Amino acid sequence: MKKRSYPLLIAIIILFAFLGYAFVNEKSQMAKPAKKTPEIGILQLMSHPALDSIHKGIIAGLKQEGYTPGKNIKIDFQNAQNDQSNLKTMSSKFANENLDLSIGIATPSAQSLANSIKDKPIILGAITDPKGANLVKNNKRPGGNITGVSDQAPLKEQLGLIKKLMPKMKTLGIIYTSSDDSAVAQYKMFKKICKQEKIPLKAYSISNTNDLNQVAQQAVNSVDAIYVPTDNTIAGAMQTLVGAANQAKVPVFPAVDTMVRDGGVATYGVDQYKLGVATGKMSAQILKGNKKPATTPIKYFTHGKLIINKKQADKMGITIPASLMKEAKAKGEIVK
Ligand code: TRP
Repeated sequence: MKKRSYPLLIAIIILFAFLGYAFVNEKSQMAKPAKKTPEIGILQLMSHPALDSIHKGIIAGLKQEGYTPGKNIKIDFQNAQNDQSNLKTMSSKFANENLDLSIGIATPSAQSLANSIKDKPIILGAITDPKGANLVKNNKRPGGNITGVSDQAPLKEQLGLIKKLMPKMKTLGIIYTSSDDSAVAQYKMFKKICKQEKIPLKAYSISNTNDLNQVAQQAVNSVDAIYVPTDNTIAGAMQTLVGAANQAKVPVFPAVDTMVRDGGVATYGVDQYKLGVATGKMSAQILKGNKKPATTPIKYFTHGKLIINKKQADKMGITIPASLMKEAKAKGEIVK
C-alpha cells in the first residue's frame, strides 16, 4: 500500500505546482496590460518659420528617443492660426481625449493647455519666460505638471554684435507686439541691458500685423538700427518690416536665426530646430516615466550661433569684419 501511493502523491504535487504556476502567471499577466501606444498632442500657436522649425525638431527628438509617429506613437497636431478661440477649442479637445502628454509651441498655446489640463504632463516648446507667464512656480523646480524648454535669446551677445556692426549708431529702435508676453519679457530685459551699455533705445509697439507697416515707417525715420525680439506676430510678417527698413536703409537685427534668413542682418541666435529636438526628447523621457515634470528643470540654451545675412548686410552698406565672417563660416551660418 505504502509503496503504491508514492507515484500518486508525486503526481498530485506536480499537478498542484502546475496549477499554482498557471494561476500566478495569469495574474501577473493581468496586472501588466498590453502596452498601449502613447497618444500626445502638439498645439502650435501659428505658422512662422521659427515655430515650424520647432515643430519639425520635436518630431525628430521623439524619433531619436524611439517614438516614431504612426508606428509607436500617435500625435494629434493642431495649429491655432494665431487665434485665441482656436487655442481654447483645441486645448479642450486635448483634455477630452485624455492624451498622455501635450506640447505647447509658443507661450499662448502653453497657457491655453495649462488652463485645460491639470493632471497630465504639459511640455513647453520654446517658451521664453515660463515663470513670468505663470506656467511654473520655479524654473529650476517647476512643481506641477508642466516643464519644458525656453528659447530665451542671448540678449547681451546680440547687443554686442549690433554695436560691433554699427560702430556709429546713435539710437537703436526696438519693435514688439504689446500683447505678446514673450516679446514684452524680452523688451524689458533688452531695455535694461541697453541702459547698462548706455545705448539710447526707442521702443515701438504694435497691436497686430495691420500696424506693422506704419509703425515700421515711423521707426526707420528716427533710429539707426532696429532690434526685434522673439515676437510671434513680427516673425510671421518679416517681409513687411524688412520692406520698410530696406527703403530707408536701416538694418534689422532680430533675435532668432530664422528671422535673419528672412531679411535680418545678423544675430547670435538659438537654433530653433534644436529647441524642438530638446522639447521632443524631454517629452519622450517623461512619457517613458524616466522624468517627472515637477522635478525636471526648464532647459535653457545659453549661447547662440552667429548667423550673418551677407546679402542683406551688403544692401545696408555694412562691412562685416573678417573675424566675424570666419566665425560664422566655421561655427554658424552665412546666408547668401
Ligand atoms: N518664445 C516664443 C513664445 O514664448 C515662441 C517662439 C519661439 C518664437 N521661437 C520664436 C517667437 C521665434 C518668435 C520668433 O511665445
